Amino acid sequence: MTLKNILERKSIGYWDFADSKSIGIHKISAYPATMVPDMQKELIKSVMEEDHTIKNILDPFHGSGVTLVEGASLGLNPIGFDINPLANLITRVKLQGVSKKSLMTSLNKIEKILINDDFEFPLHEFTNINKWFRNDIIKSLSKIRAAIQLEKYKNIRQYYWVCLINCIKRYSNTRTSTFKLHVKTDENIQGIKNNVISDFLNNIKTSYKFLPNFSRERQVSLFIGDTANLISKIEDNSIDIICTSPPYGDNATTVTYGQYSMLPIYWIDRRDLGIFDESLIENYSSIDSASLGGNKKNSNNTFYYSSQILEDYLAKIDERKRKKVRCFVNDYLEVFSNLKFKLKPEKYMVLTLGNRRVDNQVLPLTEITREFLEKQNFTFELEVMRNIPTKRMPRKVSNVKNHAVKSMNTEYVLIMRKRGE
Ligand SMILES: C[S@@+](CC[C@H](N)C(=O)[O-])C[C@H]1O[C@@H](n2cnc3c(N)ncnc32)[C@H](O)[C@@H]1O
Repeated sequence: MTLKNILERKSIGYWDFADSKSIGIHKISAYPATMVPDMQKELIKSVMEEDHTIKNILDPFHGSGVTLVEGASLGLNPIGFDINPLANLITRVKLQGVSKKSLMTSLNKIEKILINDDFEFPLHEFTNINKWFRNDIIKSLSKIRAAIQLEKYKNIRQYYWVCLINCIKRYSNTRTSTFKLHVKTDENIQGIKNNVISDFLNNIKTSYKFLPNFSRERQVSLFIGDTANLISKIEDNSIDIICTSPPYGDNATTVTYGQYSMLPIYWIDRRDLGIFDESLIENYSSIDSASLGGNKKNSNNTFYYSSQILEDYLAKIDERKRKKVRCFVNDYLEVFSNLKFKLKPEKYMVLTLGNRRVDNQVLPLTEITREFLEKQNFTFELEVMRNIPTKRMPRKVSNVKNHAVKSMNTEYVLIMRKRGE
């Protein structure tokens, strides 16, 4: 049966996954705008039903690793890129797992250290730490940090850091209504009850159950950096399926993955975060600036992509915003034009896409992507529109000149297939 037939058998509304309860493993640490695990699994499974030769899966913007973890659960070798070191750590821990036997011994030790009032540790510091954390919280988190650093196994330390991420977010002075860093009111800050240590220990005791047992043999090929630069790490014609949800565009008005991640990043020991360019974590907005939709990379104004769909759209929005959208679309499509070489002939690219608004006009990213890939030796297989029934984003993702920008409530799955040689 063809993939189209397999997917078209599903009823309308099937893809909404309205009852989806995010599977445990994906709950061990929060990340903005995550995908629906059941849906990604179903998509990958459907492709595997049609093509039995699939061995690996590439997610070039892997985020918290939903696609890669679901792909790995179906027996595929995961390969991924993300510019955000926090996304990389979360995904790595979900894929590599934790040595459960050693964890039990380690847990005993860390618990003793954390309840010991005589344990000596340095107070951690970074720019503006006092703006984002109350003094007593800094003390508790510093104690945890020093205790984690005493652990000898890297896979356990990385697991502990992931268990700490939710605590860092929860006990910081940032509001939860936005992904951007905004300080809570004094009253709300004073209202925070300091249960950091017990929450952290509880996280350790529950999350490991969802993870695989650590094994050195398990292949985890994850890289931190700009996908545009990392693609060359992959051999041509070596990938069996590309499955991803790429960034939607302008970081200032959509999802600030980087800003959301900076506080945890500044607490985690740099040595456990993997290899990446230091400039990425120079300040609170450096990841977002370096991301797709951040600062214009295309400064010499060479736009190799021209499309009537894009021009018609640009004509509808404020002139001052056109260049930024054009740059984003250009950088975004440049990634896809390079990705196509990595996919084997006749294999699929499965994209979950959001069409965000600029000036209240919907940027037709799905149509643009489809048109572009069709010109790049791909055939269009299927497009599925789905409602996003559970809000995985704050309703307001940003405040632009006091106009609230609403988050999207529909997304599209675009399935394209590379032509044979
Ligand atoms: C829509 S999210 C992916 C969400 C993910 N599928 C999940 O379920 O968690 C897009 C991801 O692209 C990453 N990103 C943005 N620009 C990038 C770039 N130039 N290179 C690599 N990753 C980038 C962001 O850090 C973010 O994690």
